[in-house]
Amino acid sequence: MSRDCVIGLQWGDEGKGTIVDVLSSSYDIVARYGGGCNAGHTVTIGNKKYKLNLVPSGIFQSTAVIGSNVVIHPSSLVKEITQLRNDGINIDLYIDYDCPVTALYHVKRDEHDEKNAGRIGTTCRGVGPTYENLRKGFTLKQLVDGTYMEIAEENLKTRFNDLNISFDAVVKELDPTIEIIEPFLANTKRIVRSYENVLFEGAQGYNIGIYTGDRPFVTCSDPNVTGIADSFGFLEIKKRIGVFKAYSTRVGDGPFPTELNNDIGDWIRKKGNEYGTTTGRPRRCGWLDCQLLREAVEYNAITDLAITHIDTLSDISELYIHTVNGQLKAMKTWSSLLPFMNSKDALPANAQSYLEEIESQLTVPITIISTGPERNEKIPVR
Ligand code: GTP
Ligand code: IMP
Ligand code: MG
Repeated sequence: MSRDCVIGLQWGDEGKGTIVDVLSSSYDIVARYGGGCNAGHTVTIGNKKYKLNLVPSGIFQSTAVIGSNVVIHPSSLVKEITQLRNDGINIDLYIDYDCPVTALYHVKRDEHDEKNAGRIGTTCRGVGPTYENLRKGFTLKQLVDGTYMEIAEENLKTRFNDLNISFDAVVKELDPTIEIIEPFLANTKRIVRSYENVLFEGAQGYNIGIYTGDRPFVTCSDPNVTGIADSFGFLEIKKRIGVFKAYSTRVGDGPFPTELNNDIGDWIRKKGNEYGTTTGRPRRCGWLDCQLLREAVEYNAITDLAITHIDTLSDISELYIHTVNGQLKAMKTWSSLLPFMNSKDALPANAQSYLEEIESQLTVPITIISTGPERNEKIPVR
């Protein structure tokens, strides 16, 4: 039996989607446990790029599960499922009855707050307001059985009445989604416990976690290994794979100690195509921060590391890492890292040294090296 997980160790967008995709064929199910349609995972298979927000990245090679602490914006979910079906993907998916629903007024509240004082740079998908309103919100089960109407009406009259949204507008958005979503609903706690091999898929990352990030610049769920329990209860998780980029990026406001507000930062953004999957916003770029990474590794008791975007750093004019002791350390650069290299030994010597330095800073082995977005650009290290 193996219950393992993939966790984002930075500010999200580490490339968890592509790592989950390659690993998923070894698991019976792949289960997402947090976030909502704020998440954007990109999976590249051949020359086709799939952008996922709610559907787990395991959908291409495994059975997918959405756990009860993932907040669902029904019309976004329906759109995503329809798009995948149009692309010929078989939707083998279970969604928990108890998932909280993001209604129109949550999205409008998010948009309103971002336009006014107190902006933190959210994705404006209504995810924060849905989590903040968990106690008085409604679930997919209540959407399907119709009891949601009373709750939505009460929300519109009280906590959200300043937004001037009509009850009809809320229902109009939700009603057509019901018959499409209903067949997927299940008790996912029971399903997850009945399978031998499960991979839990994280969304976002440690530094924007509700308990581990710098408030208020955080998302509203727990992206860490501890967040798995919020959807599925306590389970032993064997392999805890931490994913990180070879440098750092952050989308949205908030502290970013190694940020490069200069030509090198711009160079990384361009080479790494660092624009938000969900919002298209340019991502802020900076050096790898081993001090913060080490905290994330320890918090999650990470057993294995997966590094992505090592190819992006190829040909950079200078290269530094922020060490666990808080110093900037110059690293030797490399060039000509070719796509589809299939062993660690084939990488340029200075790229190998970069990986070894990170392993020694983080005291955990790198067992997957990603040298490009494609499925077959992932090097397993034995
Ligand atoms: P969140 O759940 O939003 O945190 O997303 P994520 O961790 O799944 O990452 P996301 O897909 O948002 O961003 C990663 C981007 O990098 C995607 O566009 C991937 O296609 C791309 N990518 C992943 N691995 C590599 C890599 O090794 N090299 C390069 N060049 N691109 C990569
Ligand atoms: P929210 O989750 O949309 O409320 O946004 C809160 C903060 O988390 C903002 O800084 C967002 O940019 C950031 N955020 C949320 N989801 C993601 C993600 O999937 N990748 C990267 N940043 C994210
Ligand atoms: Mg993303």
